[in-house]
Amino acid sequence: MATHKLLLLPGDGIGPEVMAEVKRLIDWLNAKGLASFETEQGLVGGSAYDAHQVSITEETMATAKAADVIIFGAVGGPKWDSVPYEARPEAGLLRLRKELGLFGNLRPAVCYPALADASSLKREAVEGLDIMIVRELTGGVYFGEPKTITDLGNGQKRAIDTQVYDTYEIERIARVAFDLARKRRNKVTSMEKRNVMKSGVLWNEVVTQVHVREYKDVTLEHQLADSGGMNLVKSPKQFDVIVTDNLFGDMLSDIAAMLTGSLGMLPSASLGEIDSKTKKRRALYEPVHGSAPDIAGKGLANPIAMIASFGMALRYSFDMGALADKLDAAIAAVLASGLRTADIKSEGTIAASTTQMGEAILGELQKLHA
Ligand SMILES: NC(=O)c1ccc[n+]([C@@H]2O[C@H](COP(=O)([O-])OP(=O)(O)OC[C@H]3O[C@@H](n4cnc5c(N)ncnc54)[C@H](O)[C@@H]3O)[C@@H](O)[C@H]2O)c1
Repeated sequence: MATHKLLLLPGDGIGPEVMAEVKRLIDWLNAKGLASFETEQGLVGGSAYDAHQVSITEETMATAKAADVIIFGAVGGPKWDSVPYEARPEAGLLRLRKELGLFGNLRPAVCYPALADASSLKREAVEGLDIMIVRELTGGVYFGEPKTITDLGNGQKRAIDTQVYDTYEIERIARVAFDLARKRRNKVTSMEKRNVMKSGVLWNEVVTQVHVREYKDVTLEHQLADSGGMNLVKSPKQFDVIVTDNLFGDMLSDIAAMLTGSLGMLPSASLGEIDSKTKKRRALYEPVHGSAPDIAGKGLANPIAMIASFGMALRYSFDMGALADKLDAAIAAVLASGLRTADIKSEGTIAASTTQMGEAILGELQKLHA
């Protein structure tokens, strides 16, 4: 059995609390011989600042580059509001994303049946929902130059952002989407605005070419990003994998995520290039939520987003899809049993702390392996 190197970066606030529940799972998987994980732990964000006056040290960056994957908690909090800008907690995460070249952001939106009533949409629209938004993360209008505000001298100013994509950037994110679709329901929907944007014309052309050349077995459809957004709310279950640029992806992934309820439920992954020598892909897995200083240290945090992020690592970095399926089934079973952390509680459910939720999920996983 291959041994995988994990760097755990719990971070600040509830980060260490939810990471403890992932560690519980890793320990069990190792002890049971179901996987072989070697873990190292490091500091990032405010906790790194307190110890080293930087948001991540060179040593931790080196460990991150040598690891197979990074499992990241959350960073930030009011304690570090006045630290120097370059040492602010978020800078550690941004540096990891940049230096590891994490261009592909995966945000699944899964609606567990037991939580379908927590969605703002009708139960029948979201029950059983399982879609994946693949967002290009390092290009497009957030990074394109020129990016300026110019004083026109007549009492007016002009702001310019530049939407720019090269062929290779579209090709590599399209491949991420098609590869994912092959592990799911084999369908990709590409979204852009080719009716009004040149970058949309190129996006559409390149995705189509990659499909014809390399992924003919996957179903590809194109939607304009605005009507795609409408369809996401109207009938979200028509989608499997959606691939889109940085700006549209930012909005569409937030919409898709909120179809499913609480921030404490949402995992994510950020993927880099496949190394031509090792054939491995750099990857960082993290919950979508932040460090939640308002509930930190109280045992109130929902660990499901963190645990499901680890599940994504099993599925997408380690090809352990069967184990990831069982972990998802364990989460669904715990929710179906009525156990709830405070953020997802409703009438008639049973209150659980972070630890109780983590233990219950492990308990269900153990039953599935009995
Ligand atoms: N990737 C990251 O590390 C990341 C992401 C977003 C925000 N942040 C940082 O986190 C800090 C707090 O930011 P914020 O309050 O805007 O966002 P947040 O995600 O930390 O919290 C928003 C709300 O959701 C709740 N919440 C979040 N995660 C939860 C969980 N797992 N279980 C139960 N409830 C949960 C919080 O209690 C809070 O009420 C800030 O310093 C911000 O910069 C970090």
